Formats: sequence, structure tokens, C-alpha cells
Amino acid sequence: GRSVVTLDDLTTAQIQDLLLKASYIDTHRKEVAHTCDGRILATLFYEPSTRTRLSFETAMLRLGGNVIGFAGAQLSSVSKGESIGDTLKTVSNYVDAVAIRHPKEGAALVASQAASVPVINAGDGGHMHPTQTLADLATLKSRFGRITDLTVGLCGDLTFGRTVHSLIETLCRFGNVHFVLVSPDELKTPQYVLDRIDETPSCSYEEVKDLVSVIADLDVLYMTRVQKERFFNEDDYLRLRDTYILDAEKLKLSKPSMAVLHPLPRVNEIAVDVDADPRAAYFEQVRNGMLMRMALESTLVGDTLPGYEDWSNKEV
Ligand code: CP
Repeated sequence: GRSVVTLDDLTTAQIQDLLLKASYIDTHRKEVAHTCDGRILATLFYEPSTRTRLSFETAMLRLGGNVIGFAGAQLSSVSKGESIGDTLKTVSNYVDAVAIRHPKEGAALVASQAASVPVINAGDGGHMHPTQTLADLATLKSRFGRITDLTVGLCGDLTFGRTVHSLIETLCRFGNVHFVLVSPDELKTPQYVLDRIDETPSCSYEEVKDLVSVIADLDVLYMTRVQKERFFNEDDYLRLRDTYILDAEKLKLSKPSMAVLHPLPRVNEIAVDVDADPRAAYFEQVRNGMLMRMALESTLVGDTLPGYEDWSNKEV
């Protein structure tokens, strides 16, 4: 019941509380350092990762807990044909929570149904990546002081971009966002995600192919990688991979207050000459990702954060 497969598994009040907890954790590292003493997290990663796995693990270690797991299915009994269900029934005996990344959409849901401990989706194929969205929300909050009343451009692979799907789904819950969906025809946003926007009276969207013609309107530009691993056909990937390249020259057309986000890893869709621009927020996202995972892990399996309640009563 306490698993997080999508952010729909959390109430908006819980998401807001996680945002507040992350700021508390950031400024009270010593106070929170034993919140997960004696607790163990398993990271089961069937797909490559740098940020998500290492930040889930760092977060647990910084809270006083421990971590076990595997990075790469070839190192686990999955390589002998074991199912996700049996793997999770097994690992549930060892740990207090599981973070799982898998190339198949729906794998995290299957895992959560088999497990007897909370399962956190660390990315399931081209479907959802809820903890990336938590990092994105924290970044928007710190840049704009709010996560509503924004014009949010999302650019690149909107078909398979799980970070995009999670972010749209969640921003719709808070409302008042206009989405500018920038992609080639082959990589448009899936209907189930567009339906989410359509169902939200305060939200709207437009679909365009050209980034330059819309960049001046945006408060946020969320760039994404065209993901080689999601294509069936190498030629399609090669044809589409360089459709959008944000560089310092194009960035000049945007508002000075615009924030450029990217879940990372990037290949070449953001030129490195953008990194020094104050609009570049993608390494802040990385940092926020760790803090939000600390907030989530402490909430799911930890003790209450010492001093947090008094602090948050003053804060709100
Ligand atoms: N943003 C993200 O999920 O990065 P990794 O694939 O490196 O974990």
C-alpha cells in the first residue's frame, strides 16, 4: 500500500510535505543523520543508471541506513530466468524498501504487487519516473517559488520520455500550467498523457515541431534525450537524435528568468556552452534528486525527522 509506482500513489499534501522535508533535510543534515538507522534499502536496477541508483543509495546512507542490490540483471538470478515476482518475494525478506528500475513498462507495478515492503519505481521503460519528477518539482519550487502558473515547454522524445509523462501527470494535479510539447511527429506525447491535460480544466497544451519559434514564451524548457535504447530501428534513431540542440545562441531568444531542465544523461541535445548560463538548472535537479529521495525514504521507512514538525509549523 505504501509503494510509489507513480506520483498518483501520493496525495498532493504528501508531495508538498516531501518538498518541505527536502528543504529541512538540506539545512539539518546532522539532525536527520540517524532517521533510517538499522533500515536497509534494496536497489534492483535492470537498466543502466548513474543518478537515480547512486542518489537512492546515497540518500539511504546519509540517513544512517544501509543498501544492498544489483546494477545489471546479468548479475542476479534474473539471468537464469527468475521472474520479477519471485525476485521481489525473495528480497522482501531482506530489506525495508526496494527501488526498482526496469526496461518494461509496468514492471514496478508488478514488483509492488509481489513485495511485502514498499516499492519505489525508479523508472519503468517509457512509462513513468516519479522520483525524477520529485527532483523536477523541487527545482521549479526553488527557481520560481511555485509549481503552478507556468508555461512549460517539453522538448525531444515525448513518446518514450518517462520523465516527461510523470512530470505532466503531476503538474496537472497542481494545475494552471500551459504545456508546449515540442517534438518531431514520430515522438509525440502519448494519448494517455494528453488525456491527463484534457481532464484538467486549468491546464492546456499545444504541440509544435519547432523549438526556436516558441522558446521566448517559456518559463521552463525541459529538454530530453532521444533515447537510443527505446528504438526498434537504428535508422529512426539516427534520423531523429539531433532534431533539437539547445545552445547558447538559441538560449538568447528565451526569457532571462527561464529555467532549462533536463533529467540527464544528455548526449548532445544541450551544448556544454549552456552550462554556465544562469538559466541552466539541470545540475540543481541532480542535487534536488538526492534530497527528495532522502525525504521519500525517511517518510516510507524512517523515524520522524527530529525537529521537522516545529520547523515546518513555522515555515508554513
Ligand atoms: N535522470 C535519471 O534517471 O538518470 P539516470 O538514468 O542516470 O539514473
